[in-house]
Amino acid sequence: MCGIVGYVGPRDAAAILMDGLARLEYRGYDSAGIAVLNETGAMRLEKRAGKLENLTQALVGATMTGTPGIAHTRWATHGRPNDLNAHPHLDCHDAIAVVHNGIIENYLELRQELTARGHQLHSETDTEVLAHLLEIEMAHDGDLAAAMRRMLPRLRGAYAIVAMAVAQPDMLVGARSDVPLIVGLGTGEAFFASDITAILRYTRRMVTLHDGEVATITPQGLILCRLDGSPVMREPLTVDWDAQMAEKGGYDHFLLKEIMEQPIAVRRALQGRVREEQGMLQPWLEDFQTWVATGKLATIRRIVLLACGTSLYAAQIARAQLTRWARLPVEAVVASEYRYEDPVVGPDVLVIAITQSGETADTIAAVRLARAAGAPVIGITNSVGSALTHEVDVTLYLQAGPEISVPATKTFVASLVVLTLLSLSLARAATAGQVSRYDGVGPSDRELPDASVTANTAEIRDKALSEERFSLKNTGLDASGISAILSELEMVPALMDEDLEIATQDFSIVRQVARSLARCQSVMFIGRGVGQVIASEGALKLKEVSYIHAESYPAGELKHGPIALLDPDTPLVAIATASATYQKIVSNIQEVRARNARIIAVATQGDAEISEHADDVIFVPAIDELLTPLLAIIPLQLMAYYTARERGCAIDQPRNLAKSVTVE
Ligand code: G6P
Repeated sequence: MCGIVGYVGPRDAAAILMDGLARLEYRGYDSAGIAVLNETGAMRLEKRAGKLENLTQALVGATMTGTPGIAHTRWATHGRPNDLNAHPHLDCHDAIAVVHNGIIENYLELRQELTARGHQLHSETDTEVLAHLLEIEMAHDGDLAAAMRRMLPRLRGAYAIVAMAVAQPDMLVGARSDVPLIVGLGTGEAFFASDITAILRYTRRMVTLHDGEVATITPQGLILCRLDGSPVMREPLTVDWDAQMAEKGGYDHFLLKEIMEQPIAVRRALQGRVREEQGMLQPWLEDFQTWVATGKLATIRRIVLLACGTSLYAAQIARAQLTRWARLPVEAVVASEYRYEDPVVGPDVLVIAITQSGETADTIAAVRLARAAGAPVIGITNSVGSALTHEVDVTLYLQAGPEISVPATKTFVASLVVLTLLSLSLARAATAGQVSRYDGVGPSDRELPDASVTANTAEIRDKALSEERFSLKNTGLDASGISAILSELEMVPALMDEDLEIATQDFSIVRQVARSLARCQSVMFIGRGVGQVIASEGALKLKEVSYIHAESYPAGELKHGPIALLDPDTPLVAIATASATYQKIVSNIQEVRARNARIIAVATQGDAEISEHADDVIFVPAIDELLTPLLAIIPLQLMAYYTARERGCAIDQPRNLAKSVTVE
């Protein structure tokens, strides 16, 4: 949401800023603007509602030359998305320009005060007050950084702010609170940006800002200090992403490119994290080992997974893994709800927060609450140095490379890989007695019919065990079980390659299905166990990119209401991959078929039965049930992509969506 770019250095700022804004488009926005100090030191400003192209057109023929400069893509919160409300905003004398991402909660109060003092404010935004507050503060000593330090304590809310002043043309000043802002350091030039992808072409050396710090950038580098003026020393980080990773690389859309990159994303997420020990494969997450060594894990009684959107579905799959493999009590909670449900949380609850952007405001807020209650927190993110990393005890990176398209794809599978490794590490710790398994009556102790009661009890029992063999018999994974899962996990990239090659061919069943879905008003998705989570993520992808109404249900719930919606024009996508509940899903499919709805099944290669029950079958390679999401999600992502393409949708930046949701 909203994107900021700033440049100071010898080059003309405008081209660099416009290029940076284009690379931040994926964050979501509805207007854009740019301000540059020209050769005579005067402020030049252009702002336009709508897509960046409108601003680009406005700049044709305009003499937007000079340096430094600041630019912004705005996602409207206060005031409509029109030219006037677009950033940058100026003070009374066109001497200070400000861009801002976030919300200033007390802006009305500040606005009244400014108006009473004779300031003229023109827009409906909360941001404009910042330019005027800086004007007042700068009047004291002419120093923009000092003015910023004096202004910040007056603000309530969340913000990333970058300002530029005619009086100090060799610098930009920025600050943040709960909203991302980084500094990029080049040679003889420096940058501000909402994220590194905006400036990857120019530098990979970056410094993340912390709340309560003010950063001044000049061609010579960065001066960082606290609000009291005391200096802060921070070494720059070097990101290993290169500019090419943030390009389309010959694909029509980033979404397709990122779907196709999933085998690489899985390889990268696994990199250095599995090793052989005593002839068996073991998950090797260095940070996690520290927790074992320090005994931190020994106190854990419960696990809470926190996330939003697609990351929440990754969390739900991890929940199934931790339950089955580690036998630990675990819940996956919508981060935006967590804070308000008065959660039971303390030092014996291990919190695992998943956010690919590392900036999702709801997830960060939930983490803060848990941490304040003493809970140890592991953060999983793709974004080096993001807000999440400042809030957690341990960070595990996805290592997936930049994801530009708004709908999450490769970060989803990378999250699943990291969560799988974490689940296996916890299973291993549970086996070694480093973390306590649930001590009460587990499913393995569940009462089964007494063999003496009826003659066919043994038969009933065998049937129950075979149908629910995982949940009834399971006592967690032992070392060889962990090793077996890891071997399968290592095969995933090769299996994905196979999946992708088949599914993207023009005559593939996925593309045929997409052509027919493009004409539908509504699509229903069902599944059981992790299949239900795959169904939910598949439905989310479809609605996000094609704007077709898509709902997902646990298959058993279908007959409790949603089945009323089914008719020949409402297809059903059923996740019917091999699992303990396969036969139950087949029964659910039959119930639907009786209502003449068209059935599209995702099934495991080698399933000879499913074609009898479904109109279209998309096969995915066989793998352990709890790893199935890694493979079964791919045809659903592609189905959403090709459906959206048929419908001519804005695939990489769907309407109303933002990649990084920095407001609650
Ligand atoms: C936004 C994005 C989704 C994403 C969700 C959570 O809504 O559009 O694709 O799943 O945020 O993002 P996070 O960065 O926390 O994983």
